[in-house]
Amino acid sequence: MFVASEKDRPMATKVTLTLQVNGEEHDLFVPVHKTLLEVLREDLGLTGTKHGCELGECGSCTVLIDGRPSLACLVLPVELAGRKILTVEGLRSGDKLHPLQQAFAEQGAAQCGYCTPGMLMSSLALLGEKPRPTRQEIREGLSGNLCRCTGYTKILEAVAAAADDPVSAANTDSNTAADDRQPNPDRCETGTDTADISR
Ligand code: FES
Ligand code: FES
Repeated sequence: MFVASEKDRPMATKVTLTLQVNGEEHDLFVPVHKTLLEVLREDLGLTGTKHGCELGECGSCTVLIDGRPSLACLVLPVELAGRKILTVEGLRSGDKLHPLQQAFAEQGAAQCGYCTPGMLMSSLALLGEKPRPTRQEIREGLSGNLCRCTGYTKILEAVAAAADDPVSAANTDSNTAADDRQPNPDRCETGTDTADISR
């Protein structure tokens, strides 16, 4: 079997681009094929966004793009000129946790914590659209995010607690007016079938 040596392989094409992440602009020169997840973690050092399946199935890489939950493993940064990206690092303000982070901590909604950043970002988008969601709406809003540890009950309780917190309602602005939100084609659809968060 022929295996190309390193010097025989074509050089990856690199592109110059500017990404706006958590309110800051970053000028980057990265291979065109690199995903947003890879650029966030490897080039910007924002490792809060987790690397899971890379197939759009687990939700651990969820970030908000213009306020809409998106799977960073399926998005190419070259498509994001002028778009606002929010990662879990952008939730806290100074030393103060976002009310959703506070609620997750108080309700014991994180165990290993690997799914937590994605859960938080999906929850933020949900509360931005529905400040007082029903239990069913919370289940549906988080249906693309898988958790192997918690059994989901504590996560549902944390989101409900944050929704009941009037401070939280004032902190769910995810960079986009509600009227601008459209169904997101990047959103993982498979999680609805695979994630049973009714437990
Ligand atoms: S790593 Fe992106 S959905 Fe699993
Ligand atoms: S807390 Fe471990 S995967 Fe959710």
